[in-house]
Amino acid sequence: MTLAYRPLGHSGLQVSELALGTVTFGREASEADSRLILDRFLDAGGNLVDTANVYGVSEDILGRVLRGRRSRVLLATKVGQPVGGPNGEGVSRRHIHEAIDSSLRRLDTDWIDLYHIHCWDPATPLEETLSTLNDLVRTGKVRYLGVSNFAGWQLAKAIGVAARAGWEPIVSLTPQYSLVERGVERELLPACRSEGVAVLPWSPLGGGILTGKYGPGPDLPADTRATGWTNNTASMLRRLQDERNHVIADVVKQVAGDTGHSPAQVALNWLLHRDGVTAPILGARTVAQLEDNLGAAGWSLDPEHVTSLDDASQIALGYPYDWDASYGIRQGSKPDRAFEPERTAP
Ligand SMILES: NC(=O)c1ccc[n+]([C@@H]2O[C@H](COP(=O)([O-])OP(=O)(O)OC[C@H]3O[C@@H](n4cnc5c(N)ncnc54)[C@H](OP(=O)(O)O)[C@@H]3O)[C@@H](O)[C@H]2O)c1
Repeated sequence: MTLAYRPLGHSGLQVSELALGTVTFGREASEADSRLILDRFLDAGGNLVDTANVYGVSEDILGRVLRGRRSRVLLATKVGQPVGGPNGEGVSRRHIHEAIDSSLRRLDTDWIDLYHIHCWDPATPLEETLSTLNDLVRTGKVRYLGVSNFAGWQLAKAIGVAARAGWEPIVSLTPQYSLVERGVERELLPACRSEGVAVLPWSPLGGGILTGKYGPGPDLPADTRATGWTNNTASMLRRLQDERNHVIADVVKQVAGDTGHSPAQVALNWLLHRDGVTAPILGARTVAQLEDNLGAAGWSLDPEHVTSLDDASQIALGYPYDWDASYGIRQGSKPDRAFEPERTAP
């Protein structure tokens, strides 16, 4: 199985339809296992690898395991979350320059392919941030720019400010998006479709709840994110307390039973085919998990199965989105730019 490639929004880049997240590198996965995970991803044709300056030793490990083959991957990293000190967070000019140089050193590379603002910084003028990021592209330290965890208005404002000033555009958004978290469908997905911004969903398996391994009871399977002591454990335990998530996970399991695919493959396949999604960012602790997850590509769910997953995971849109859907004009037309068709690797 070879992954297909999709355009990264309106940039000239082609990225694999599944990206590899590396928050587990050096945390739940040893360096040796991290290397095996990366090897398997590259063998499958994957080329987009996501990390961040705040993922512990993930950047350091990537720097080592990519030595001698850096040019095979598109490296995405992030800036913005706290690393310590009064100026060690956000996206001020000072912190961006400090953070990019630290990431380049840890990753043992001269350039970052895709640099994401990790989250909105209310304390820094957007002009300061975007002009600094524009300089990074001009000097060659960074090739493309993206944002993560932005609200719709923040994304629209960033796109507008950059366009008005003639600075490098925002080409990608990386939001949380999965069957258990569909909030992006209200505002962000339509914005990205309209503006040609790539969507790279994180936590596509809801941290593991969509893999079929968690039941509704208090007994948690050993060696999982829910029983570990990582930054993600608290959010995982919160997800497991929400009855709605177990209802969705049960439907995923039913569809898996019907189709002969694993629950993880079903959940990822649903996401992979959402209009506007470019490449879900896979999370894996082991090579076996990655192998399972790679099996999400290369096939499509039947429309009836998509409908049952849609129905089980539906969210209330709220005003004005529900008003638009009922009363808005030209509902039948589709003015948003269509995404280009997928290309398969030669
Ligand atoms: N931009 C942001 O703010 C942001 C935030 C979070 C993450 N991210 C990125 O997104 C990536 C993915 O996020 P995520 O790790 O939360 O993704 P996820 O796919 O929702 O969860 C991954 C976890 O689920 C379990 N799992 C995965 N595949 C499985 C399978 N086939 N069978 C059984 N269990 C399986 C593993 O945990 P256990 O086996 O330990 O249970 C794995 O670590 C991260 O690596 C990171 O690069 C970005």
